[in-house]
Amino acid sequence: MPTSEPPPTLPLPKYLEEYELAQECRDLISSLPKERGWLATHLYRYQGFWHNSRQLGGVLGCQQHFQAQDTDVLLVTTPKSGTTWLKAIMFTLVNRIHSPVTHEHPLLTNNPHELVPFLELKLYVDTHIPNLTSFSSPRLFSTHLPFVSLPKSVLESGCKLVYLCRDPRDTFVSLWHFTNKLRPQSHGTTSSLEEVFDKFCRGVSLCGPFWDHVLHYWKESLSNPEKIFFLKYEDMKEHPQLHLRRLAEFIGCPFSPEEETKGVVDDILGLCSFDNLSKLKVNVDGKLSSGEENKAFFRQGEVGDWKNYLTAEMVDQLDKIGEEKFYGSGLKL
Ligand code: A3P
Repeated sequence: MPTSEPPPTLPLPKYLEEYELAQECRDLISSLPKERGWLATHLYRYQGFWHNSRQLGGVLGCQQHFQAQDTDVLLVTTPKSGTTWLKAIMFTLVNRIHSPVTHEHPLLTNNPHELVPFLELKLYVDTHIPNLTSFSSPRLFSTHLPFVSLPKSVLESGCKLVYLCRDPRDTFVSLWHFTNKLRPQSHGTTSSLEEVFDKFCRGVSLCGPFWDHVLHYWKESLSNPEKIFFLKYEDMKEHPQLHLRRLAEFIGCPFSPEEETKGVVDDILGLCSFDNLSKLKVNVDGKLSSGEENKAFFRQGEVGDWKNYLTAEMVDQLDKIGEEKFYGSGLKL
């Protein structure tokens, strides 16, 4: 009788690998509060916010070693708030002189995450001390780090921060879809919306609590508008030209009258539109070096899809948390 072999186990994608952590990081992790993650086995609370172990290694690495320069621009976002879109826009904006919007533009063959890398999810995960000399000035990086966890040099230098957030209802729905797309078959199919909703409301989500993340940057942007530019996904969708011009002013590369006449603003928005980026071959069948399929970053790109997923009670619950957390701050999402 032939013996039946157990099915071969597929290797985990890199983004789920139990990252080889330095002893210092393992010691830290063992002292942190933990909860079951949405996708990774656990999330750990560090400096008041939740991270998986792979990310924590990157957080510690960039906190210890990242040296911001005065000319750097850092895109800070809550996960699923439109990071991919803003990366594309900022890359195109900042590099428009030597990489104008033509049929040879780098975005046509590279996913935005490859062009504007995350500090704690990419650069300081791949290498303990990455060599950043190949980045030309102004260097563009991105992060999901909460304000309290930013590397010291970011605050002490003239480095500028662009902060992007989104309606928590759409952020949550987008995060739920994204997590389900990234879940390998060996980890089951989808997680229940109710279960992860409860975690999200309790703040247990990647770089959550969501509201604390947004509120801190909001307050800092009010007291230091030269340093932090605060932007909402919904505003960018509604008035893209206006906010792109504001962004260009903030970064220090405003559009010249000649560029305005030539329609450069619309060229950039067209190149970076959901419709355009999501159909490019690289974003249809490409993968990041960390294993995520590029298409996972493009779903609908619309405002208000939460209406198709959340019950009235869920919406009430999110509204109440927002009202309490943002009370007196002038912020409404
Ligand atoms: P949905 O899941 O609601 O469609 P992030 O980039 O921070 O991971 O966020 C992903 C969300 O931004 C997804 O939202 C995705 O579809 C949307 N998105 C990606 N590219 C976009 C673009 N060019 N314009 C508008 N939204 C975009």
